[in-house]
Amino acid sequence: MNENILSVRNLDITFRTNAGDIHAIRGVNFNLPTGKTVALVGESGSGKSVTMKAVTGLLDSNAIINGGQILYGTENPVDLLTMPKKTLRREINGRQIAIVFQDPMTSLDPTMQIGDQITEGLLLHKKISKADARKKAVELLKLVGIAEARKRMENYPHQLSGGMRQRIVIACALACEPKILVCDEPTTALDVTIQARILDLIKELQRQMGLSVIYITHDLGVVAKVADFVNVMYAGKIVEVGTVEEIFYDPRHPYTWGLLAAMPDLETDDERLYSIPGSPPNLLHEPKGDAFAARNKFAMKIDERETPPMFQISETHFAATWLLHPDAPKVDLPPELKARLLRSRKAANYV
Ligand SMILES: Nc1ncnc2c1ncn2[C@@H]1O[C@H](COP(=O)(O)OP(=O)(O)OP(=O)(O)O)[C@@H](O)[C@H]1O
Ligand SMILES: [Mg+2]
Repeated sequence: MNENILSVRNLDITFRTNAGDIHAIRGVNFNLPTGKTVALVGESGSGKSVTMKAVTGLLDSNAIINGGQILYGTENPVDLLTMPKKTLRREINGRQIAIVFQDPMTSLDPTMQIGDQITEGLLLHKKISKADARKKAVELLKLVGIAEARKRMENYPHQLSGGMRQRIVIACALACEPKILVCDEPTTALDVTIQARILDLIKELQRQMGLSVIYITHDLGVVAKVADFVNVMYAGKIVEVGTVEEIFYDPRHPYTWGLLAAMPDLETDDERLYSIPGSPPNLLHEPKGDAFAARNKFAMKIDERETPPMFQISETHFAATWLLHPDAPKVDLPPELKARLLRSRKAANYV
């Protein structure tokens, strides 16, 4: 038996556009161990959503999958990329693998009562009577912490607050008892207190239902709260992966240092926010060598010529930077950066 319920292998995706081909996903590898939470972090445009859209069968029609595998299941893993579309729709997408997006209004139908939206999925996928589906919908609403669930069944989305709407979306996602829940920035549109409650809710549901969760975010504070493992993504590749402790205590990729240093300090309300210099490469013109080189003050000659492999640091920790090559010079982090890394560790309660 395999410990991973999902393994993405060498996933490679290009988008056809009028301006040319965009090589958005350039050989992505990551694992989701059963029952765990894996975070996918990285700046805007790094490829987090596209990767998960490939997993959930929601890729835009101009996407070309050049190669790779998305292995799902622990007993006899199946490759979702070669599975017939019909089977995927009937058995996997939205059923065994469900997704929750950032903006609940994109997932909810404004013209439909909440109760109907939740029962819709149940009636579609399960052999269940309408009355039983409604009973189950009320249970789901209670499960996601909606008070007066029976009454809320008749509400329309606009009658609810943002936080409640996101709970409804989560209830819809959970209706078919998925094995994997993908959350794409599920709390970004919400205020901080509501955000924390939704994070707690997902954690609690995970515990109760044995869900495996993939969490997409650019907020490392959220990562520290929810994740077991972290995958750091840059320009269509995973550049560092480790347990959440490894990423916060012992980050090795200069991009991860930048992301950590850029975490806002909530405690001291320090306004002097650090940001990584420059911007990510345009993947219409794929960079040669290490895509991060142009923004990396520790870059070496080889970074311009060759893409670094994943160097292994521990059983669970890998990073793709030439700085980890045995012949690379030892990098001494500037005191300012060291101090910022320590601060983000503190902010994330990792001290
Ligand atoms: N349908 C499409 N056609 C062309 N390019 C696309 C399409 N969808 C995504 N892309 C490109 O793929 C890259 C990765 O996008 P993606 O949405 O995965 O980023 P992300 O990491 O989720 O960013 P964000 O944090 O902003 O959500 C971007 O350069 C984006 O412009
Ligand atoms: Mg995204």
